[in-house]
Amino acid sequence: MIYLDNAATSYPKNEPALRRAMERYLALGASPGRGGYDRAVEAEELVSSIRQNIATFCHAPTGSHTCFAANATDALNTLIQGMADGTSHIVSTRLEHNSVLRPLRHMQYNDLLEVDILDFDDRGFVSVESIEAALRPHTKAVIITHASNVLGTVQPLIKIGAMLHRHGVALCVDASQSVGHLPIDMQAAHIDALVFTGHKGPAGPTGIGALVLDPCLDVKPSRFGGTGVDSHNPFQPTEYPARLESGTQNMLGIIALEECLRDLSIHTQSIRLKEEMRLLKRLFGALVKLPGVRVYGGHDMEKQVPLLSCTVNDMKAADVGAVLDGDFDIAVRTGLHCAPLVHERLGTAPYGTVRFSLGSHTTDADIDAAIEAMQEIAQSCGSS
Ligand SMILES: Cc1ncc(COP(=O)(O)O)c(C=O)c1O
Repeated sequence: MIYLDNAATSYPKNEPALRRAMERYLALGASPGRGGYDRAVEAEELVSSIRQNIATFCHAPTGSHTCFAANATDALNTLIQGMADGTSHIVSTRLEHNSVLRPLRHMQYNDLLEVDILDFDDRGFVSVESIEAALRPHTKAVIITHASNVLGTVQPLIKIGAMLHRHGVALCVDASQSVGHLPIDMQAAHIDALVFTGHKGPAGPTGIGALVLDPCLDVKPSRFGGTGVDSHNPFQPTEYPARLESGTQNMLGIIALEECLRDLSIHTQSIRLKEEMRLLKRLFGALVKLPGVRVYGGHDMEKQVPLLSCTVNDMKAADVGAVLDGDFDIAVRTGLHCAPLVHERLGTAPYGTVRFSLGSHTTDADIDAAIEAMQEIAQSCGSS
């Protein structure tokens, strides 16, 4: 199989990192914060050091506000519900994944948040000016994806963050499609909340994600329960991270996330990205020349993660995907990619697009095969 669906989940995973994580997990033998004996204390110290390492990875101001979650969706729910106070206004964009749009809509329909959703331009970027124009006196935060999961376009976070900082509005970033491909500097971009997931760019396991906060942003707890600390208190502890984490932690996932991020130095990421973008450029260059194929994303390779979408004449995206799979053994994602507003804007709803997403293991031969397959599909549907 030629795997070009790394934006859904990366494959193959970072096997050495996962093996190291399993060894560490098997030696651990206790749950953090759940006992006063040596092993439990060691486990607690371990988790604290991992929080710090993750904060260092994304240049967060402190490790004490790194909160673990089951995935990006879970972290985004914690963030969005924790900001819904019945009086605040949130600005977001049509580029977002349903893991942002649905919690926002839910809060909006329950009168817990006012929400404005902004458009993107023809090339897939949200302008700083449009965000600034949407701010109101009670705007609490802007929630925006770092890189679109349909177009791959990378949003101008540094400029957005600088502008929001001047207005005293928080910047919350869904970095699900960028962590592992692009370096993140929360402080340089004035990011107040960063969300990412372990199973995409970091090449880690499913079931682990993170919400990394700047202590300036107040996020209320929306789930309650055992935290291992402050047990006499009938209410959720107010301190981070216990404020936003209840129940026994996914220790294997947490250790695996650390091991995977450890392998992603700025140097490694930049070499990886360069190669992925070289391959994406080849794919883009070939697809745009095919009659009947329309490519979305990839028009500015400097502001792009390694994925793009396309349509082929009036063929449904799912049918193109079925041929790629059945006749060519190429795995891609088709449809709306959980980002319905992107397709409304592009005119590709309701069938969506065919998305090719590359990873660190993608080769020239994979791209050759994808190009040849698309040539045949475009030819056969053009002549039918
Ligand atoms: C931009 C974006 N945000 C959020 C998510 C949700 O990630 P997870 O599956 O880890 O919850 C995805 C996954 O496809 C995504 O692409």
